Order: sequence, then structure tokens, then C-alpha cells
Amino acid sequence: MENKIKQTGTAQITIEGKSYDLPIMKGSMGAPGIDVRALYKQSGHFTFDPGFTSTCSTESQITFIDGGEGQLLYRGYDVEKLAEESTSLEVAYLLIHGELPNAKEYETFESTITNHTMLHDQIESFFQGYRRDSHPMSMLCGTVGALSGFYHDDQHTTEDEARDLAIHRIIAKIPTLAARCYKYRVGQPSVYPQNNLSYAGNFLRMCFAVPAEPYEVNPVIERAMDKIFILHMDHEQNASTSTVRLAGSSGANPYACIAAGTACLWGPSHGGANEAALNMLKEIGTVDRIPEYIARAKDKTDPFRLMGFGHRVYKATDPRARVMRRTTHEVLGELGISNPVLEVAMELEKIATNEDYFVKRGLYPNVDFYSGIVLSALGFPTDMFTVLFALARTTGWISQWNEMLEDPSQRIGRPRQLYSGAELRDFVPMDKR
Ligand code: CMC
Repeated sequence: MENKIKQTGTAQITIEGKSYDLPIMKGSMGAPGIDVRALYKQSGHFTFDPGFTSTCSTESQITFIDGGEGQLLYRGYDVEKLAEESTSLEVAYLLIHGELPNAKEYETFESTITNHTMLHDQIESFFQGYRRDSHPMSMLCGTVGALSGFYHDDQHTTEDEARDLAIHRIIAKIPTLAARCYKYRVGQPSVYPQNNLSYAGNFLRMCFAVPAEPYEVNPVIERAMDKIFILHMDHEQNASTSTVRLAGSSGANPYACIAAGTACLWGPSHGGANEAALNMLKEIGTVDRIPEYIARAKDKTDPFRLMGFGHRVYKATDPRARVMRRTTHEVLGELGISNPVLEVAMELEKIATNEDYFVKRGLYPNVDFYSGIVLSALGFPTDMFTVLFALARTTGWISQWNEMLEDPSQRIGRPRQLYSGAELRDFVPMDKR
């Protein structure tokens, strides 16, 4: 990657009477940043930003978010347009290479990915080591990390060919692993990939086909699954992507880095929110109970939050939530399901988006608000939701990992701290304590 951010001005900071010049750096879109890289060396002062609300950790050319406008772009293309008009492998190519593929490039890419969909047979013993009721995210974390033992050479990350191989392998194998997690959890035999199917179609078959029955992929469901993959593919420097970059900054094996990202995604403030959002909607149950939950969300003495609402970056509706709302209607229509939870969700969205508390704080539905409803209609149990998110986000993670390694300004990530613990003191032997 060629560094493209440029200095557009200078900011001054005065610390204890002494002034320091700091370059103001600007990319192609979005807010400028103050370059503080030399500040500690020059002044002996750190910047302090827990939660990174005002800190850019890197330059990137992959994804752009305008949180105020509710806009999400992959390599300059609107995500809503990509979700409606392209396929997940086309978008994967775009994220990795920076441009949409032409027909020939697409054909080669698709064939490369499908040639890597199988898992090494010994991966199966990792699954056999899990309790049968293990959370599928636990299985995914462990087995994706285990791939590092099978493809150790892919860690020679300075060589383009080895890096490409790691990128293709992980994108190809993650649906097979995710489907295996599901099959293990429900106690069914694993279904091998079938490479004449699409990325999403193959995944659905690996999840829902059983040896005793014929299985045909429903094109409406396949399209919905593919859209869900596209919508979740990348989201700039979120917690899990930053985790992948931080792990990768030390030169760690790429599959181990993806395992680190998977672990970070698991939490309910990040990828786990779709599970939490669906549980909340089910708990509300009927439209007449919504005011009670809105009141709880506003009550500062109650830790309850409206799950699927609010976002660190979006202060308008998350554009992914709009596509997800449409997809939910398409899927429920196709399957002929009338789901009371959808009614609760739509009413809750209507009420909350007009309430002063939510409007003032820019709290609108995020991608997870509707995704739980659609994923459960597709037949996935709630504990698989985050696995599906991880599957899709793996393409973004590996694209970001690749970009980081190509960045000439890349260094090992090493934040500092403001220490507030005990000062130097003498050791006291145990019998004197
Ligand atoms: N319900 C009620 N109040 C909320 C909510 C919510 N869902 N989210 C934020 N607030 C309030 C919060 O109490 C605070 O109020 P005040 O200023 O009076 O103290 C204000 O809004 C700002 O909240 P914050 O916690 O400082 O915001 P954050 O940027 O640190 O947190 C968030 C972002 C996504 C963790 C948070 O909005 C949240 O917990 N939402 C619910 C969980 C969720 O849906 N997460 C999925 C995120 S999207 C998927 C992804 O990209 O990973």
C-alpha cells in the first residue's frame, strides 16, 4: 500500500509553557487527524484516549464510514448498492485488491477460493475434543487458530505468494469451519463442501443438508445469506479488526490473528449483539410492553440497554440496518412466516427513533437489530449468529491484515498507559506480612 495521507496544516500544543508543532494529516475523505507520533519524544507527554474515541490507529484505504450521514463505503462503493447488486466473492475481491474484478478476474478468484474449501481431515480431531454443547464461537476460535498448525508456512508474510495463499485459504475454509461448528453442536454428521455452489449456497448446504435427505438451495435464502455476508464484511478499525491488526503487527501467523479477531468479536458489545437483540425482542414479546423497556433503557440506575441500538461511529441509522430490514421482509415473505418479533422490532424502532433520549444521543438501529430475526428465520440457532458474523468479517480482517503488512509505515502496535498503581516499595518476606 502506498501511503497517501498528506499534511494539510499544523496544530500547536502548549505543554507547561512550551509549544510543539504537530502536523495535521488528511486522507481523501473524513475528519483530519493530528499526528502525535513525535509528541512523546519531543515533550515527554503521552496522549490519553482509553476506548480510542479520538485516535486513528492507522491509515487505511479499504472502508470509509460517515457516522453522521449513515454512510458506509467499501473501496469507495456504497455498501447498500454492493449488497443489492454484487456477490460476496466479488466484494471479497474488491476488499483485497481495491477494484471490482472483471469477468476473467472473477472467474479465477472464484475458482481459487473453491479449490481451498476443504479442511485438512485432522481438523476433525479438534472438534472431537470439544464438549458437544460447547458454544460454537468457542469451537470457531479454537479451530480457526488450529489452522496455523496446518499452514505454518503462511506466516512467511513478507512473500506475496504466501500471503495470497493465506488470504485465499482463510476465505475458503471459514464457511466450512463455521458449518462444522453448527453440525457438531446439533450432533449431525459433517457435510463436505460442494464446489459447484456459490459461496453462500455452499455454506447453507453444509449447514442444513443431511445425508438422509436431498437438499436444494433456495435462491431467495441464498441471496439473503450472501447479502448478510456482504453487509458484515468490513467496518474499518472496529474492536475485532484492530485486534487482528495488533496481533498481526508482531508478525504472528495469519490464522492465529483471525482467531484473535474472532475472540474479540464474541462479546455482546460487538458481534454478540445480534444474539442479545433477538433475546431482548423475544423478552419484550408484545408491542404493549415496549414503553416499559424504553423506560428501562433511559433509566441510568438500570444497566439495561436497547440491544441493536446505538453505535460508536454511526449517529444516524446504520445503512446496514436498512438493507437488513428489507432482507428480513424478503426472507419472512419467502418462507411464509409471520413473526410477532418482527412486529415488536418495527414498533420499537418507530417509538425509539422519535424519543428525545435516543435522538439526542444519536442512538438508532444498528446492523444487529434486524439480523437476529432474519438469521433465526433462516434456521440458525441464536448461538450461531456471532459465528456467521465472524465468517463474513474474516474477509475484512484478512484484507486489513494484508494492507497492514503492505504499509511501509507499519510498526508493531504498542500503546502506552498512565500508571496509577503503587510506587516503588520494598519487598516484604511472607513471614513479615
Ligand atoms: N440503549 C440505551 N442507551 C444507550 C445505548 C443503548 N443501546 N447505547 C448508548 N446509550 C447511551 C449511554 O447510556 C450514554 O448515555 P449518557 O451520555 O447519558 O451517559 C450514551 O448513549 C453514549 O453511550 P456510550 O456507551 O458512551 O457509547 P459507546 O460509543 O461507547 O457505545 C455501543 C456504543 C454500541 C457499545 C452502545 O451503543 C451499546 O451498548 N449498544 C447496544 C449493543 C449493540 O447493539 N452493539 C452492536 C454494535 S453494532 C455491531 C458492530 O459493529 O460490532
